[in-house]
This record gives sequence, structure tokens and C-alpha cells, in this order.
Amino acid sequence: RDIYGARRNSAGLEFGDRRQLSALVEGMGKAPVSVDAVPLHPGATTRGNERKAVSPADHDRVLGSVRFSDVDDVDAVVRSAQDGFTRWSRRPVEERAAVLERIGDLFEENRDRLMALLSHEAGKTLDDGLAELREATDFCRYYAHQARATFGEVRRMPGPTGEDNRYGWRGRGVFVCISPWNFPMAIFTGQIAAALVSGNAVIAKPAEQTPLIAYEIVRLMHRAGVPEDALAYMPGEGDVGAALTAHPAIAGVAFTGSIETAHAINRALAAKDGPIAPLIAETGGLNAMVVDATALPEQVADDVVMSAFRSVGQRCSALRLLFLQEDVADRMLAMIEGAARALKNGDPADPATDIGPVIDAGQQAMLGEHIAAMRRRQHVRYAGEAPKTGTFFAPHIVELDSAAALDKEVFGPILHVVRWKANDLPAVLDAIDAKGYGLTLGIHSRIEATAKAIAERLDVGNVYVNRNMIGAVVGTQPFGGTGLSGTGFKAGGPHYLTRFAQEQVVSINT
Ligand code: NAD
Ligand code: ALA
Repeated sequence: RDIYGARRNSAGLEFGDRRQLSALVEGMGKAPVSVDAVPLHPGATTRGNERKAVSPADHDRVLGSVRFSDVDDVDAVVRSAQDGFTRWSRRPVEERAAVLERIGDLFEENRDRLMALLSHEAGKTLDDGLAELREATDFCRYYAHQARATFGEVRRMPGPTGEDNRYGWRGRGVFVCISPWNFPMAIFTGQIAAALVSGNAVIAKPAEQTPLIAYEIVRLMHRAGVPEDALAYMPGEGDVGAALTAHPAIAGVAFTGSIETAHAINRALAAKDGPIAPLIAETGGLNAMVVDATALPEQVADDVVMSAFRSVGQRCSALRLLFLQEDVADRMLAMIEGAARALKNGDPADPATDIGPVIDAGQQAMLGEHIAAMRRRQHVRYAGEAPKTGTFFAPHIVELDSAAALDKEVFGPILHVVRWKANDLPAVLDAIDAKGYGLTLGIHSRIEATAKAIAERLDVGNVYVNRNMIGAVVGTQPFGGTGLSGTGFKAGGPHYLTRFAQEQVVSINT
């Protein structure tokens, strides 16, 4: 039992338990993964384009198909969700919370099939798939608990004699939830669970690369008791997301993805008629780690490799820019390169694999172009080897002559390194600050005052000292950034649900 009364490690396994993971792989082998996904909402048409879904690890492996939603359906889906909202929002908080807990239970009961889809469709290794299943389940249980605590009671406010003032919360209306491919289960689930339990109807638009896992999740949510008109599944490209966010009747958007898309959605919301709809955006990061000469080299090497290359660098929290104090830089770089060389890049369903494929050919090409550009102007110190099937991209380490050589998030397994001299720490912190992002920050120093001063100087949402900087835990490390990295409130934190709801005060003359 943990702080919010739910079981921690909900998926029932700990990282690194290879024997159990092997048993899981066998289970996955038996689990059918073929899925034919269609839009799920009352009155759905099947006019949209049909796509074959293939595994990023092996393009010959066809997983099923998906029929994308048609932009022309958006208006009817929003109207139907408005009806759904009327009924769902009237259900007591306790009932909505109980449905979320049932979803968490169904995730655990369907673990093998969900893990199989995460591995085959998103290229997740077993450790990553398990962590994601666990995070999604934790989101359901944590938000159920938070909803009871936040919305469960109508509060009596102080007032004059003869007047009764009651303060409470209600849902906003139809929320559009738009998610990325890199956490196709955890983020997809987290957004929807938060919006539903706060009393909204939801239209969910998953990333175009991962519609099958999203389809399975929505089906489980319907099975758990979410009415079909309170949760619609609209798979599609960005044009479906754009049409949804421009619809005048929507009451809010929860978005996770790139800063460019967040800006586009913000403009669409500002231009639309109807309710003034809030945008909850979680975007990218140009995340740095600062290492001084007092840091423990072995720990730094472990934490850098984990933070930069785990999940093949496809985490918004991942380390992109490593600042090493010059006196220790050569020694630490040798250890980091050694640890990177030991990573096994390959079939994500093999328990021995450390990192799997990148999501698609577009990402693979973007990473290749970045390394080619770096080769022209900077020093590419290390280039790993990747399998030739599917869309793999090996870990790379690039030494930059200055932090100015990297000004945007490069989403993949590429670590950029800059050396700094003992007196230059303020300039290092200015350089990090100047990037404008504020998602994660790593600090390795055995001087407590240095770590504290760095954390205080930088406006960053999640700071990790003397450890790796990925894998925030729901309810323990509420997650989200500032500036170009997002609007807040933090996912998996105590205030997140309040962004999805609105307050109401009823004053009664008694
Ligand atoms: P993306 O912005 O390209 O796409 C995200 C979603 O937005 C997809 O579902 C896409 O179809 C949709 N979309 C695209 N154009 C749209 C438009 N005009 N209107 C509405 N919706 C539109 O991002 P991505 O490549 O899928 O994801 C990677 C990005 O996500 C990285 O920048 C990463 O850092 C970020 N990310 C952030 C967090 C976080 O918690 N801060 C977590 C995971 C990923
Ligand atoms: N919440 C994810 C992490 O912390 C993105 O790595």
C-alpha cells in the first residue's frame, strides 16, 4: 500500500526481474496482437483512410489495421459527447472514481495483451512496457483518490448569519485529449482518466503512430463502465486534432507533444467561438545535467546512460545536454562510452534487449540528418551500431564546442556533451536558462550547497540530484515543466485535476 492507498508496482513486477520477464514474454507470444481498430463513438462512419500497422522493429510484421477518423465526423462526435457530458457529469464523484479503479484492475488483468501491443506497435522493451503499464494503472488509482479528496465534498464557506455559502466543483464539458506516441498507454490513459473523473466527456485523439494500443485501452475503459458517449476514440493524423481543437463547443484541451503543436492548438483555441477553453499542455525539453568534479564517476556514468539512452532517448524527460567539469571530463566520458557500448539494441520483446527501435522512418531520418550536420561542425565521439531491420537508431555521443550549438530538442538517443571550467558555473547555468525549456534537470555534485544553488537558479519543473533524471513516479514525483516545456499543473500531482474542473459557489438565503 502506498501514500494514496493503492498498490505500488501495480503491474505486479519489479524492473530487472528477468525470470518473470521471460515468463511474460511467453505469455505475450500466446497473446494475439492482431487488431483492426475503427473509430469508437456513437454514429462513427468508416469512411476514413485505412492504414496497415507494422512493427517499428520489423516492417514485415503486420499487426493489424486502423481506419482513421474522418474530419467530417468531428461535429457529430462533439455533439454526441455534449449529450454524454450531461449524463456523466451528474454521476457522483464516488461512481466516477470507482470506474477509474475498475479500469486500473482491467489493465492488470489484460497485462499480457497490452504488453504485447506496447512491444509490437511502439517498440517498447519489456522493462519500458511494464513501467508504462504500471504508470497508466497508477494514474487511474491516483486520480480516483484525488477526485474523492478534491471534489468529494461540497465545502461550507464562512459567511453572515442567515446565509449558507457552498463551494464545490463540476466538470467543464467536452474535453479533447491529444497524446504522443512515446507513451501511448501512460499519457493517453492519464489525460483521459483525469478528464473523466473530473466530470467531463472526452474525445481522445491518439498519436497516428500508436492507434492500436489506444483502441484497446478505450475498449477496456468502456468495459469498465465509461459510457460510449462520454468517451469517443478518434484515431487520425494531426488534421483530426486540429479540427477538434477548433470546434466552438469544446470546453478544454489536454495535450502532450511538441511545442510547435502546442502553439498551434493555443492559436486555434484563441480563435474559436464558444467557451474560453483552457489548454493543459505538456511539451518537450532540452534537458541538461550539470556534473562537477566532486561527483561519483561510476554513478554519473550509470545515470547518464540511463537518462540519455533508456527508451532509446524517446522520453521528453531524457538527458540531451551534459555539462562535465573539465578536470573529470575525459575520465567520465570514457566510462560513459564504455557503458553505452554495452547496451544491447535489438528486438524489444527479447528480455536481453536494453533499447529497441525508434518509432518510425521519419524519426530515424531526422536523427540521421542531425548526426550528419553535427559531423560537419562538431565532434561525434561515439556512434553505436544498430540492427538493419525496421527503424533502429544507435546511441551517439557528440562533443560540442559550446552549448550554443544545440538549440532544439532532438528526440532520440543522442547525447551532447559540453566541458566547463571550474569558475564557469554561472555561465553554464545562464546557457541552460537561455534555451527557454524547463522540463527536467540533473545535478551530480557531492557539495550539497552547489546542488541547492543550481536547483534554485533554474526554472525547471523536475530536478534530480545524484540520480538519473527519468521515470517520474505518479504521486511521488508529479511531472511537468515550465516555459517552452508546458503549462502545468503537473501530471500525477495533487493539483492536476483542478485544471479539468471548474468551481461553483451556491449562496442560499436561509
Ligand atoms: P506532436 O506534437 O507531433 O504530436 C502530438 C499529437 O498532436 C499527435 O497526436 C498529433 O497527431 C497531434 N497533432 C499534430 N498536429 C496537430 C494540430 N495542429 N492540432 C492538434 N493536434 C495535432 O508530438 P510527437 O512527435 O507525437 O511527440 C513527441 C513530443 O512530445 C516531444 O517533443 C516530446 O518531448 C513531447 N512529450 C512531452 C511530454 C511531457 O510530459 N512534457 C511527454 C511525452 C512527450
Ligand atoms: N514521465 C516520464 C518520465 O519522467 C516522461 O520519464
